[in-house]
Formats: sequence, C-alpha cells, structure tokens
Amino acid sequence: MNPCQDRLIDNYNRKLNYLRVSITDRCNLKCMYCMPKTRTWKLEHSDILRYEEILRIVEIGVKLGISKIRVTGGEPLVRKGVGHFLKQLSVINKIEDISLTTNGIFLKNYMDTILDARISRINISLDSLEREKFKMITGKDAFDRVWEAVMTALDKGFDPIKINVVALKGINEDELTDFAKLSFDYPFHIRFIEHMPFKNVKIETGHGLLAPEIIKKISRLGTLESVENHQKDGPAARYKFKGAKGEIGIISPISHHFCDRCNRLRLTADGQLRPCLLSNFQKDLKTCSRTGGSDEQIKELFLEAVAGKGFEHQITANPDSNRIDTLMSAIGG
Ligand code: GTP
Ligand code: 5AD
Ligand code: SF4
Repeated sequence: MNPCQDRLIDNYNRKLNYLRVSITDRCNLKCMYCMPKTRTWKLEHSDILRYEEILRIVEIGVKLGISKIRVTGGEPLVRKGVGHFLKQLSVINKIEDISLTTNGIFLKNYMDTILDARISRINISLDSLEREKFKMITGKDAFDRVWEAVMTALDKGFDPIKINVVALKGINEDELTDFAKLSFDYPFHIRFIEHMPFKNVKIETGHGLLAPEIIKKISRLGTLESVENHQKDGPAARYKFKGAKGEIGIISPISHHFCDRCNRLRLTADGQLRPCLLSNFQKDLKTCSRTGGSDEQIKELFLEAVAGKGFEHQITANPDSNRIDTLMSAIGG
C-alpha cells in the first residue's frame, strides 16, 4: 500500500475519504436560499481554479486517501469544458466513486458525457413540482425542462437518482407529500433537506422545516421503514414506504447533527480546502499552488485542514454569530 494513504484521519478518529469539489460558483438559477442578495457573482474568473489545478489537487488528495469525489457548483454544468474535465477526473487511479450534484437545467445535453466518465450517481436539486412555484423559488420558468431531464436520466440508467428538496416553511411545505409520493412510482431517492442559514442570501433564516415535522407530514402516506446505511452513503437518514420503488432520505444538519460520522472535505471554487461546510476555517490551496508550491506543501495543507476540523458545527448553538460568510454556491453544499 502507498505509505501516504489513510493519512486523512482527524483528531476525532474520523477518516476523511470524501472530497466535494465545487468547480464554479456560477449558476443559471437564483434559488432564494442560495442566490446572493446583491445578485452579483463574488468570484472573478481568475479567482476560480483552472481544471488542471483542480485535477492536481484531487490527485494529491487521492494519494492521501481520498477515494470518493462529488462534483458540485454553483451549477457544475454551466462551466465550459466540464465534459472534458469529468473524463480527466474519471481516469485518475484509485477514485472509487465519482458523483455529481446538478440543478438539471443542462443535464440532458451532458448525460452521455457524464455516463462516459463512469458517473452514474447524480443528485438533482428540485424544490417544487409546480411550474409557477418552481419559478418563484428559482427565478426561472424551467420546471418542465428539469422534470424532462429527471425522466431522461431514469431512461438512461442513472442509479441512484437523488432528488434534493430543501424543505421550506410556507413555500414548498404543501408539496412534501407530493414529493414523497414519487418514491412509490419511481426508484428515486427523495431527500428532504433542512434549510441551513447562510448570510447575504434572499432567505437567511425563519424558513427552515425540521426533520420531525417533515417526517410527520409525509407519514400520512404510509409506514416509513428504516433502510440500513451503506458505507458510500452521505448524511441522509434513509427510509422507504412499504411497497415503494424508491426511498426517502432526511438530511438534518440542524435538528440532528451527523457530524460524528462526517467523512468529508470540500474544495471551494476558489481553491480553499474546507474541512467543514458550516465553519469558516479553511486552508488556501490556490495560493500555494499558484506560487509554485510543491505537492508536498499542498499535502501539508491537507493535513492542516484535517487537523483543524472541529468535532461538530456550532450553527445551532449560536445561529446568528456562527453563520458562514462564504456563499453556499462557492462551497457546493
Ligand atoms: P451522497 O454522497 O450521494 O449521499 O450525497 P450528499 O447527500 O452528500 O450530496 P448532496 O450534494 O446531494 O447534498 C445534499 C445536501 O446535504 C446539501 O444540502 C448539502 O449541503 C447537505 N450536506 C451534504 N453533506 C453535508 C455535510 O457534511 N454537512 C452538512 N451540514 N450538510 C451536508
Ligand atoms: N440549506 C440547505 N440546503 C441547501 N442547498 C443549497 N443551499 C442550501 C441551504 N442553505 C442544497 C441545494 C442542493 C444541495 C447541493 O445543497 O438544494 O441540492
Ligand atoms: Fe461534517 Fe461540518 Fe457537515 Fe458536521 S457540519 S457533517 S462536521 S461538514
């Protein structure tokens, strides 16, 4: 075994083998819980890591024990050259699993390319099944297009297809059972996500629906049975309705920390390595890489990021003072 492997173990004995890579902070939607109030993009073009810089960092991470990569954004499919990048990523040795999170708008154009890059696990963000409400939440009249992409992804054999629904009080609250119903007829994983408050976006706080309320609402449809978590699973608690083809996932960063089993690091679009989504602590890989830093120096920064990973986030303990000051679109969720 490579002596470098398995070095990404934090102070709480968690093995960090999952790197989420945001390739752009740009997006073709303006979701109310994500889009900056000012509507200007924070990052300049030159701030964003070039693909070759990302690939180098990923290769270094893999040598340290990263085996799972998720490509995120902003919206990853808006970045030029993403198809070629995914292919290059797919040939890096020792990556066992590559997945993608997308809003689905450009997904149809890229499906074959994504499958060619051996990516079959996709997560699609979809917060409403009603055309007008979708437009209200995202700023774009594009529900039909996203739904068509979901259906085409099913035909093409993507598996699993996870549908991410941020549960928002008074906004899509009345649709949670409609989303849950989809799991009876389709093999989708419908995942309800508790809203995490980020600064400087249209809705900052006050719209979060918590897991117990979500479960209570959808339980009207039948008995939810727990599904055992697998090693590859993220933070979602998995359930299934009896007789359903698909599953339900509940992602509850607010009501029920899953930090004790966190296995992730995040590379932001501007080259910062973040050991926790909900903390501002980060290590600047971009500057190191752009000032001639060696692979060894970048490895050191990985290890420093891991050493600085807190046990759990503090966002619920002190919701106002601990809010993250980087936009979710640059971190990638
Ligand atoms: P899988 O690896 O397929 O299970 O995916 P995932 O759930 O990690 O990925 P996805 O990009 O679909 O994330 C879904 C939601 O969960 C997003 O809102 C993320 O912000 C949230 N999430 C994912 N990982 C973490 C985490 O480590 N901490 C917190 N607080 N939220 C997370
Ligand atoms: N709280 C919870 N989930 C969020 N996402 C984006 N912003 C937030 C937030 N503030 C979700 C998106 C996407 C995933 C990557 O993160 O809906 O599905
Ligand atoms: Fe991991 Fe931080 Fe998310 Fe907790 S909040 S699960 S430590 S990324």
